Amino acid sequence: MDKMWSGRFSKGASSLLDDFNASIMFDRKLYREDIEGSIAHATMLQKQNILTKDELDSIISGLSQIKDEIESGEFEWKISDEDLHMGIEKRLTALIGDAGKKLHTARSRNDQVAVDFRRYVLRKNKEISIAIKKVMEVLVDIAQNHTETLLPGMTHLQHAQPINFGFHLLAYASMFKRDVERFEDSFRRNNVSPLGCAALAGTPHNIDRSVTAELLGFDSVSVNCLDTVSDRDFALEILFNISTMMMHISRLSEELVMWSSYEFKFVELSDEYSTGSSIMPQKKNPDVPELLRGKTGRVYGSLMGLLTVMKGLPLAYNKDTQEDKEGVFDAVETAEISLEILKEALRTMDIKTDNMHQACKVGHLSATDLADYLVERCGIPFREAHFITGKAVAKSEELGIDLSDIAYEELHKIDNRIQSDVIEKLSIKNSMNARVSQGGTSTKGTLEQLAYFKNYLAEK
Ligand code: ARG
Repeated sequence: MDKMWSGRFSKGASSLLDDFNASIMFDRKLYREDIEGSIAHATMLQKQNILTKDELDSIISGLSQIKDEIESGEFEWKISDEDLHMGIEKRLTALIGDAGKKLHTARSRNDQVAVDFRRYVLRKNKEISIAIKKVMEVLVDIAQNHTETLLPGMTHLQHAQPINFGFHLLAYASMFKRDVERFEDSFRRNNVSPLGCAALAGTPHNIDRSVTAELLGFDSVSVNCLDTVSDRDFALEILFNISTMMMHISRLSEELVMWSSYEFKFVELSDEYSTGSSIMPQKKNPDVPELLRGKTGRVYGSLMGLLTVMKGLPLAYNKDTQEDKEGVFDAVETAEISLEILKEALRTMDIKTDNMHQACKVGHLSATDLADYLVERCGIPFREAHFITGKAVAKSEELGIDLSDIAYEELHKIDNRIQSDVIEKLSIKNSMNARVSQGGTSTKGTLEQLAYFKNYLAEK
C-alpha cells in the first residue's frame, strides 16, 4: 500500500488498475513544467510563511536533482506511481524527507495538471507559430522569383484564368498568416494561471496566486476555480489551430501531388524528398505531400476525440480529462515535423516554368478578357458579351486552337464590333497583367502582396 492516497483504503490497488489508471508513461513529457510549477508554488508558500527558508531550499535542491535524474535517464518511472506529479513528489520525499511532504500544502494534482499542461500548450503555440513563419519565408522566397511565371488559375479544377505562380503561392502565405494569428490569439487568451485553485474550490491557506502566476510567466490569475480545474479549452484551441493549419498544408500537398504527376509536371520534388517503388523501378513518388495530407486526418481525430471527451463532463475535474494529453502531444509532434518537412520539400523542389506556361495554351484562359473587351471597348452589356465570347470559344474549338491564338478576322466575323486591337487582350500574359484590382494577380499586384508579406515577416 504505497499509494499517496491510500489512507482510507484497506486493500492495495490491483496491477490491472495501475495499468489502466496511470498516465505516467505519457505525462512524464511534462516533467519540466511540473518541476517549475512546484518550485514556484514552494517559493510562494515560503513568502507567505507557510514553509521555512530551509524547507524551500531543500525542496528546490531536491527538485533540481530530480530534473537531472530525469534528463540523464536515471529516474525510475513507475506505473504504480500513477502520474508524474506523484512520481516526482515521491522521489522528492525520498530525497529530502519531511519538507517534501509539505510541498503539496494548498495544492492539488488538479492544479498541477492544469498548470503543467497549459504551460506546455502555451509554449507550443509559440513554437509552432515560429515554425509556420519559416514556411512562409520559403513561400515568399519562391514567389519572389515567379511573379511573371504564368500558370492556369483554376476553379472546379478546370482552367479558368491565367495567374502567376508567385500569386498562387502567396494564397498559401495568406492562409499561414491567419494560422500564426490563431496560435498567437490562443496564447494571449489562455495565458492565465490556474495554480492555486487546489482541488476545485480554492484553499483556506493564505496563498498568493499572483506570486506563482508571475513566477511562471502568466499574464494574470484565473477568475473562477471551479472552471479552471476542468477547463481544457486551451487544449482544444491548439488542436483546432493545428487542424486548420494542417488543412492548409493538406490543400497545398494535394496540389504538390497533382503537380508532380506526368499530367501536370509543374514541379518535381527533389530526390531527397521523394521515394521509389519496391516493384516499379521507374517510380518517383510524392510520399511527403501524401503523408502530410494523410496526417491531417489523424490530427482531426485528436480534435474530435477531445471535444467528445469534454462534452458530457459535470463540474469540476473528472478522470476522463486525463485523456486530453496524448492526442495533443501527437498533434503537436505531427505539426512540428510536418512544418519542417514541408519547408524543406518546397525549398528543394524544381519548378517547371515552361510546363506551367505550356498549360496556359489550352482551355481558353483569356475568354473573360474577350468578354471584358466587348464591355469596355464596344459598350456591350456583360451578359451579351458573355454569349458572343461563347461563340468565339466554340469557333476556336472547331478550329482546334486556343482562343489566345485565334485570328482577328474570325472574331470580326462573329461580331463586327470587334476591332483588331482585341488581339493584344487575348494574350495570356496580358490577361494576367490586366487583373490590377486590389489583391489581383497582375505582376504589379503580386509584387505589392510580396512586399506586404515581407514586411509582416520582418516585423516579428
Ligand atoms: N493524471 C491526472 C490527469 O492527467 C492528474 C490529475 C489527477 N487528479 C485527480 N484528482 N485524480 O488528469
